[in-house]
Amino acid sequence: MKSLLLFTLLLALFFSQKTPIPFIIIDTPENARCLDGSKPGIYYRAGQNKRNTLIYLEGVGNCAGPTVDDILENCYQRSFTQIGSSKYRPSFFNSSEIEGIFREDDITFGRWNLLIIPTCEGATYAGDASVQYKNTTLHFRAQRMLVNIFDYMIKNHELKLNHNVILSGSSAGALGAYQYANFLQKLLPLTDVRIVPDSGFFLDSPEPFQQIVQVFGNFIKNDHYKTIFPECKYQNNGSDFYKCILPKYSWEFIQTDAFIIGSLYDNWALQYIYQIPCYNHFDQCDPETLQFILQYGETYKKLLSNILAFKPNWGSWLISCGFHDFIQSDWYSNKNFTIPNNSKNTGQYSVDQWVSYRFLKSKQRIDSDPYPNNKNCAYQYK
Ligand SMILES: *[C@@H]1O[C@H](CO)[C@@H](O)[C@H](O)[C@H]1NC(C)=O
Ligand SMILES: *[C@@H]1O[C@H](CO)[C@@H](O)[C@H](O)[C@H]1NC(C)=O
Ligand SMILES: *[C@@H]1O[C@H](CO)[C@@H](O)[C@H](O)[C@H]1NC(C)=O
Ligand SMILES: *[C@@H]1O[C@H](CO)[C@@H](O)[C@H](O)[C@H]1NC(C)=O
Ligand SMILES: *[C@@H]1O[C@H](CO)[C@@H](O)[C@H](O)[C@H]1NC(C)=O
Repeated sequence: MKSLLLFTLLLALFFSQKTPIPFIIIDTPENARCLDGSKPGIYYRAGQNKRNTLIYLEGVGNCAGPTVDDILENCYQRSFTQIGSSKYRPSFFNSSEIEGIFREDDITFGRWNLLIIPTCEGATYAGDASVQYKNTTLHFRAQRMLVNIFDYMIKNHELKLNHNVILSGSSAGALGAYQYANFLQKLLPLTDVRIVPDSGFFLDSPEPFQQIVQVFGNFIKNDHYKTIFPECKYQNNGSDFYKCILPKYSWEFIQTDAFIIGSLYDNWALQYIYQIPCYNHFDQCDPETLQFILQYGETYKKLLSNILAFKPNWGSWLISCGFHDFIQSDWYSNKNFTIPNNSKNTGQYSVDQWVSYRFLKSKQRIDSDPYPNNKNCAYQYK
């Protein structure tokens, strides 16, 4: 009994300590650099389970603004911060952010290798162009940065010998996971590659959002993208090119399996795409706005249900509560966030079931109760 207690204590002590995750600069050519021209970097932690790797693409929205000049100015400002330059990245991953799927006691990924790829580009992981702006050159080069980082992982960490690789990411990082799924599977022919995109299934409206995505489509349009996602049939179709960035259109061309995580009422989308002031307090919305939010959730639910019907091996966890970016925080395992309410189906439990037993039975969870019926989480926002 005593030794069991001691063992439990030691175990708790072991897991409560967080292994520091160092920042490593990757030597890349000039056409594979961050916004400001600095070399990209990664955070890497080797796991006890050498043959499984979780790759996480950091979120942070694209540079935003109503006009191309505004977008470029926003990117220019970004080039002096850690989301536009490696110069400003801390040399260790912020230990208070080692939460959710990054935890060493996570039931699924705790013993896997962990590769966190920080964003430093600002164009939804799609860019391959350089643009002159003010006194400098802005580099939109996520494509070649990722190719170089994957290559580094193959040479230095035997990525090609992995049994499982899961490519994940939140928000813009989720858009990255959708875009690079096929590419990574082709690069690692012996590996089971899957994606777990979180909070990145954006609807293509209204106009300003579409324009922003299109602007990026124009920046990044080049032949190299065809080597990244050649299956996307909008590649060759002028202004429709941007549809390869949005899973609403690109899902049918994705050949790996996917587990889609998100909120039916994503409050980043409600705030930034739909300009809804009560995005963080639905209970304080006026009736008309609340009606819009509920309608949005219904549209979202229908769209995702239709898509998932075509993809029997895909999983989902889409809940009727308002949040954005989930899996890299402890909300991921919070017992208040389950589908349906008061069940065991947290995000973490659902992902674990799908990763471990994808083929056994359906892992498609979409909250059937509209807001605010999932009361345990209905009034919590993040
Ligand atoms: C580390 O993360 C915590 C929690 O997100 C945040 O409050 C803090 O400012 C971060 N520290 C640094 C140095 O970025
Ligand atoms: C461009 O101008 C900014 C602001 O004046 C300055 O901080 C930066 O060093 C300049 N960059 C180059 C490449 O000269
Ligand atoms: C290209 O886009 C236009 C406009 O959306 C559409 O009418 C046309 O059918 C598309 N062509 C292909 C080959 O997808
Ligand atoms: C769940 O929500 C209730 C009510 O808001 C709160 O008191 C409780 O601490 C929450 N539980 C967790 C695990 O966050
Ligand atoms: C759970 O959901 C059901 C169905 O919407 C609802 O009647 C019930 O009040 C909810 N329970 C809690 C604790 O939120």
